[in-house]
Amino acid sequence: MRISVIGCGYLGAVHASAMAELGHDVIGIDVDARKIAALQAGRPPFYEPGLPEILKSATASGRLRFSTDIADAAGAEVHFVAVGTPQAADTSAADISYVDAAFRGLLPHLAEGSLIVGKSTVPVGTAARLAALLAAAAPQASLAWNPEFLREGFAVKDTLEPDRLVYGVSADDDGRAASVLDHVYRAAIEAGTPRIVTDYATSELVKAAANAFLATKISFINAMSEIADVTGADVTALADAIGHDVRIGRRFLNAGVGFGGGCLPKDIRAFTARAEELGRGDAVAFLKEVDTINLRQRQRVVDLAVAALGGSVHRKKIAVLGVTFKPESDDVRDSPALDVAVLLKGLGADVVATDPQGVENARERHPQLEYATAARDALAGAELVVLVTEWREYRSLDPADVGRLVASRRIIDGRNVLDPSVWRAAGWEYRGLGRP
Ligand code: UDX
Repeated sequence: MRISVIGCGYLGAVHASAMAELGHDVIGIDVDARKIAALQAGRPPFYEPGLPEILKSATASGRLRFSTDIADAAGAEVHFVAVGTPQAADTSAADISYVDAAFRGLLPHLAEGSLIVGKSTVPVGTAARLAALLAAAAPQASLAWNPEFLREGFAVKDTLEPDRLVYGVSADDDGRAASVLDHVYRAAIEAGTPRIVTDYATSELVKAAANAFLATKISFINAMSEIADVTGADVTALADAIGHDVRIGRRFLNAGVGFGGGCLPKDIRAFTARAEELGRGDAVAFLKEVDTINLRQRQRVVDLAVAALGGSVHRKKIAVLGVTFKPESDDVRDSPALDVAVLLKGLGADVVATDPQGVENARERHPQLEYATAARDALAGAELVVLVTEWREYRSLDPADVGRLVASRRIIDGRNVLDPSVWRAAGWEYRGLGRP
């Protein structure tokens, strides 16, 4: 099929490349000329495992092109809208101005029978509003909402082999929107991927609910880790034990510095704001507590650092391992790791932060911090090591080796991924979150 993808960020660039990989003829559009130039040259403007390979082969084959001109989307049968919906500057609601702008830009270029497919995460009610706009301004086209559940670090696999497909369609749709989308996702459909066809509001809520649930699960275990701390219990063993109950499940029960990134934090805030607008703020008031627990984890790590250094971090060298919000990504948006580094620096510590992929993005946001691209340089002479993003290379650090680099053997494991007994046996003072 001829497909356009409007917005080429973490979501759109992967979606465009994956659609071309599936054999479609794709044009990716973005207002950022630098991003488009990089993508057209076959270079992803961000780190995502597996993306360089499919981007390169699709651009080389001519099945995938990029442009800054939305007029180049004309002629596509399906237009995916994959622009960002960040948190608004002055409220906790989502800023959907980029979605609105993408729609306005597409209106003059919609062919007879074409389908616009929203992938961006939007407040419930947005699709109905945009459908009304479309009916008035471009009745030859129609709208479906198809939320995206990809995880950074696994984005290519999640797009090519999704665990479910959700199509939100208009009440007067005769089945056409679903059949077009089935054609787009034929490979996944043939592989038996569950597919749910529903109304606009449900499809928008599916995404809000999924992220709210995941965020709640993480804050739940972090709350347990606070109780573990004052009782001498071990939150990791606790998670293993409750995780064996299939109704609970072990995934997303890792206590630590908490969740971050461009999705979970802003999505729970936007969901709360939207529920309040709808007069049902009470129903999701618990999400505010989920957010509060989550942000408290960052302060807990800082408090542990202060305690580990005897009450003050002032002028003490601290190596911060990790700045991205999770491993296998260069994304530092709302990153707990970067926040911890900034908070420690604010207390007067000589922070040196390191990360396998995120240093450049972190430096752009926080140029006041000192960075090292090699972990060894951050560790040299440190009086405290703080692990806050569980990259494989940090999880597999050898305590004896690291012990020879640092000034003092003290470590805070902000992700509870190291074996305390091994580190303690090597002479380290080890502290985790909710671990004795
Ligand atoms: C998330 C959702 O998983 C995805 O379905 C949605 O489309 C977008 O938002 P992503 O932001 O890529 O994806 O990251 P995810 O893997 O969900 O992790 C989010 C955050 O939670 C990370 O900061 C991670 O470190 C943290 N986390 C995750 C924990 O603190 N503990 C856990 O047990 C799991």
